[in-house]
Amino acid sequence: MKNASLLWLLILISLLSCTTNQARLTVSPSSSQFFIRDFVSLSCEEDDSSAGWTLRRNTSKQQRTQCGDGWGEAAGSSCNISYIYTSDSGVYWCESREGPISNMVNLTVTGGSVILQSPVLPVMEGDDVTLLCKTKTTPSNLPAAFYKDGSLIRKQPTGHMTIQHVSRSDEGLYKCDISGHGESPSSWITVTVIRLVCHLVVFCPYFISTLLSVSLYQHRANGNDPTVILATAANAEQRMCEDYDDIAAVTSEHQF
Ligand SMILES: *[C@@H]1O[C@H](CO)[C@@H](O)[C@H](O)[C@H]1NC(C)=O
Ligand SMILES: *[C@@H]1O[C@H](CO)[C@@H](O)[C@H](O)[C@H]1NC(C)=O
Ligand SMILES: *[C@@H]1O[C@H](CO)[C@@H](O)[C@H](O)[C@H]1NC(C)=O
Repeated sequence: MKNASLLWLLILISLLSCTTNQARLTVSPSSSQFFIRDFVSLSCEEDDSSAGWTLRRNTSKQQRTQCGDGWGEAAGSSCNISYIYTSDSGVYWCESREGPISNMVNLTVTGGSVILQSPVLPVMEGDDVTLLCKTKTTPSNLPAAFYKDGSLIRKQPTGHMTIQHVSRSDEGLYKCDISGHGESPSSWITVTVIRLVCHLVVFCPYFISTLLSVSLYQHRANGNDPTVILATAANAEQRMCEDYDDIAAVTSEHQF
């Protein structure tokens, strides 16, 4: 079964190559809520930097505007917003000529004095998620109350709370409150299912066909029946897709 192992290796290599076609939008500092006049840097992380991308956003006033076009400053591989305002609240994403290539991120800017820091990037089901309640003026953390769907869930003297082993039941609208300072805006935490590998397989016909021709060639050379190895390849792909179908991710969403 030396050939079956080789085939597995080829499938793995092709899947790894496929993942580089995706980009990830990251936000620094890592938060989905900001105070007005905060500095925010957004960046599209991809392995092939020559592909070319633009950062776009939808706000309540304008749709699909590009970084540098009335907002933000394109700075190398990132887009910096030096003084963010409430009108910068909206959904941000990276786009190539072919269309959207990244996750979408909701940013909420508040004129108030309390924010809830929840993860900007998707978090896998089963991971721990830490929520931090911050004031604009106090550098150290103050005691905070955390709410889910309008009901108090926890009071934390440290100002942060960790949800362990996140599951679908943790889905909801979160906010926090610091006595004497006020309430943060609300953020959605949702559990979504992603079909990562299956999509990648669909988008990478080049790699799949390459590995099939290599294995076919090999088996012709060995005098084996090529249909056997083709069936093995198809089964392997199917099994991989099934394994990945159930992967769930937690994303933060924000209300305006
Ligand atoms: C942004 O706005 C455009 C035009 O209204 C809309 O087609 C698109 O779906 C919006 N994108 C997001 C991510 O909300
Ligand atoms: C943009 O932000 C990045 C990350 O903070 C920083 O390294 C870079 O110097 C900034 N560029 C400009 C032009 O502000
Ligand atoms: C962004 O916020 C809007 C409005 O609350 C919500 O409908 C949307 O699903 C959110 N998107 C993401 C990627 O969090």
